[in-house]
Amino acid sequence: MENSNSILAVKNLTKIYGQEPNKVVALDHVDLDLAAGEIVMLMGPSGSGKTTLLQLLGGLEPPTEGKIKVRDGEWQEFYREPEVSHYRRDMIGFVFQFFNLISALTAEENIALPLILAGQPKKKITTLTEEMLHLVGLSERSKHRPRELSGGQQQRVAIARALIHNPAILLADEPTGNLDSRNSIDILELFLNMRDKLGQSILIVTHDPYVATYGDRVVLFRDGRIVDEYSADQIVGENRSERSLYIMERLQSISNEPRSK
Ligand SMILES: Nc1ncnc2c1ncn2[C@@H]1O[C@H](COP(=O)(O)OP(=O)(O)OP(=O)(O)O)[C@@H](O)[C@H]1O
Ligand SMILES: [Mg+2]
Repeated sequence: MENSNSILAVKNLTKIYGQEPNKVVALDHVDLDLAAGEIVMLMGPSGSGKTTLLQLLGGLEPPTEGKIKVRDGEWQEFYREPEVSHYRRDMIGFVFQFFNLISALTAEENIALPLILAGQPKKKITTLTEEMLHLVGLSERSKHRPRELSGGQQQRVAIARALIHNPAILLADEPTGNLDSRNSIDILELFLNMRDKLGQSILIVTHDPYVATYGDRVVLFRDGRIVDEYSADQIVGENRSERSLYIMERLQSISNEPRSK
């Protein structure tokens, strides 16, 4: 699984919550290699460990076990404080299902927040914020507060905020889970567009097989493990609807298999 274009790789990534007898193995020796500019869709039943994987990759939770490799660096133990804060700041952007915007702040203030908190110079903040507003198509909505924006627009603000510090990786946990199908497609087009313009890798958790057809790769999860994985050209179908049916069938077949432990 060595990949010369790798931006982030993990191996043996394991997360155990709690102690016996309430121990939960949320991630069970996961190996994953994310290429620069790649869009990966993560799917799997509820409780299979998708959110946990994002939290570990994003440095929000420490793993129980596992190694990490950034770009062409060496394999090393996972980052701990204080390195993990630098890793988060330099490498990672997060997008969530419920947007997580600050309701008292305008669109542009929400987008600028990471730079304000990082103490960046005002001029730089203004320039970058305008650029991001433009990229997500919300220049006309810069003074609106979240409740004055549609769900799709709020998610655009959240994506601009996640990308303003130019992270190498965007982690998105069910980013279209709270949107109708039209808005979901717009958000996926935006992700593709951002990847083409800014070049970051994007890892998207989704339950929606149609959403998954937008990935370069679809990774299927079960019981904290990767059980199957398809590159876009392995997904059979003439069009998006057919390919989403194919993904749905793969997903159903892994959900129905007897437990391996
Ligand atoms: N903080 C925690 N403490 C204890 N157990 C946890 C914690 N967070 C997650 N878990 C457990 O770890 C397992 C994986 O949870 P996770 O949230 O990663 O699943 P998921 O695949 O994101 O599910 P969903 O599709 O429902 O969002 C579940 O069994 C869950 O109950
Ligand atoms: Mg989840």
